[in-house]
Amino acid sequence: MTATPLDGWQHWQTSWDRQQEWYMPDREERFRVMIDTVEAVAGTAPRVLDLACGTGSITDRLLRRLPEATVTCVDIDPLLLAIARGHFAGDDRVTFTEADLTDAAWTERLPHTSYDAVVTATALHWLDTEPLDRLYGDLARLLRDGGIFLNADHMKDESAPRLNAALAALHTDRQTHQRQSGSLDWADWWGEAARDPHLADAAVERFALLGDPRQARTDPSHRDRPTATQWHIDTLLRHGFGEARQVWCSASDALIAALR
Ligand SMILES: C[S@@+](CC[C@H](N)C(=O)[O-])C[C@H]1O[C@@H](n2cnc3c(N)ncnc32)[C@H](O)[C@@H]1O
Repeated sequence: MTATPLDGWQHWQTSWDRQQEWYMPDREERFRVMIDTVEAVAGTAPRVLDLACGTGSITDRLLRRLPEATVTCVDIDPLLLAIARGHFAGDDRVTFTEADLTDAAWTERLPHTSYDAVVTATALHWLDTEPLDRLYGDLARLLRDGGIFLNADHMKDESAPRLNAALAALHTDRQTHQRQSGSLDWADWWGEAARDPHLADAAVERFALLGDPRQARTDPSHRDRPTATQWHIDTLLRHGFGEARQVWCSASDALIAALR
């Protein structure tokens, strides 16, 4: 296990949040709607799966709002998991599973066979259409009857392309100004994390396993990936969810809620 950085794990949580907010200024708002929906459907003590948890941002907000919840955090990234494990050390409400969601047998690594809620944010756009379709089938089987799946991610209503383009241009302008004031992007953030001696081993492992984000400022592999909100809704319904709809959206992102 990685030793604690001198200024504690909170430094990396905050730094991760700022980097993610540079891409999604309304990130906390989508977390709020997500957790409201978990509480509305699954109550105040749900068993939750935080899918592709990263540093555990959703779990952090969820446990502050619903302290009786328990959470399984799943991710593939050893460095982000090291920060999450450090942040939640000693909290027996949180358990960790290292797994690749594109592995057909990933659910066998989980400590439970059934969950009240599955939550995920800014992650499933990393998966191509076929493994994502299969994953939605896995989630339909993992959720109990009446359970809830919530996915906040990059996806659009593609019926309004000029409106989407105008809002995207405004967002890009704001990002440019924020960069001039020192905001970190994805590549910068990984550079800073890799320089922390407490994360150096995890960084070497991460770069060998998943590539080195410092080498590529844009993700080169967005090929066969769903971008339309409706694709997610249709696919979830096809896998046996009883209802699925958008419960929040911005110009570039949406939060989909699907009831098992
Ligand atoms: C941008 S981060 C978002 C993390 C967190 N949900 C948040 O909102 O801060 C995307 C996460 O998806 C994870 N991820 C991507 N592909 C994955 C896969 N195939 N299996 C497991 N995790 C994956 C990455 O490791 C990363 O932690």
